[in-house]
Amino acid sequence: MALTSELGKQIKLKEVEGTLLQSATVDNWSQIQSFEAKPDDLLICTYPKAGTTWIQEIVDMIEQNGDVEKCQRAIIQHRHPFIEWARPPQPSVLVLHRCFLLNYFKGVEKAKATPSPRILKTHLSTQLLPPSFWENNCKFLYVARNAKDCMVSYYHFQRMNHMLPDPGTWEEYFETFINGKVVWGSWFDHVKGWWEMKDRHQILFLFYEDIKRNPKHEIRKVMQFMGKNLDETVLDKIVQETSFEKMKENPMTNRSTVSKSIMDQSISSFMRKGTVGDWKNHFTVAQNERFDEIYRKKMEGTSINFCMEL
Ligand code: A3P
Repeated sequence: MALTSELGKQIKLKEVEGTLLQSATVDNWSQIQSFEAKPDDLLICTYPKAGTTWIQEIVDMIEQNGDVEKCQRAIIQHRHPFIEWARPPQPSVLVLHRCFLLNYFKGVEKAKATPSPRILKTHLSTQLLPPSFWENNCKFLYVARNAKDCMVSYYHFQRMNHMLPDPGTWEEYFETFINGKVVWGSWFDHVKGWWEMKDRHQILFLFYEDIKRNPKHEIRKVMQFMGKNLDETVLDKIVQETSFEKMKENPMTNRSTVSKSIMDQSISSFMRKGTVGDWKNHFTVAQNERFDEIYRKKMEGTSINFCMEL
């Protein structure tokens, strides 16, 4: 596939303060950094593969008072501006045309054009976030997922997503991930940074594993944080509509509208497994021991605790 390989060759990453980012993001960095947040912005923050799409759908269902049709107004990637997203380089007219169709443009511009109160999305670490979000005392909704499942999910995502580097073998990827040499940087730094910020700012800190275990309880927390008051039947409906099974079938959330030249779901589904503990099917005993040792060192001094299986 010419287009795939053309895109594949295009993948260039650049660093900002030691964090790898897509080169189009870095090329647009000063505009991203000077982004003007507003006090009534709500920013959805996650490390990649921590359940971003899931929390976006939950937030949108709450915002739309459980109205499924309203949530069908656009694919999930277009509902909440992704602030650091910038259009990737375009090698040919064909790609240019496709990029146009896929609405690849700058997240900051899309955010600027969005009426308040805005709900925005980022994968940036606390260190790289545009400062105006802190200065304006915005609300942040952070979702964390245990590192091992994140690594597995990211590995399969990089296999199927031609906008990201090829992950290599699982053994190679294991090293890449623990060294933080993936796009958006180290899982350890990301999670630690947001965890440390949570008592100083308006941050609702959630865990993927908790949402999986007791979705209604966690969805209620999100609702309260958003200042909404929905009755029990609406909450039950949101639980149902945001289940993995429903979202896997929903073309507005399952990325089936994304071209195969960008995301090849015959390699791995975007809605892959949606479980806690899939790492046990990937980590060897030796990798697990090594990972636990690295985890202990890197996370020393933090009080955060992850559930590794349900
Ligand atoms: P897996 O690859 O482990 O299946 P993101 O949206 O941040 O890219 O995260 C994608 C991960 O979240 C994938 O994990 C995907 O299956 C999972 N996911 C998406 N929607 C989900 C849902 N409703 N319930 C549980 N997991 C979900």
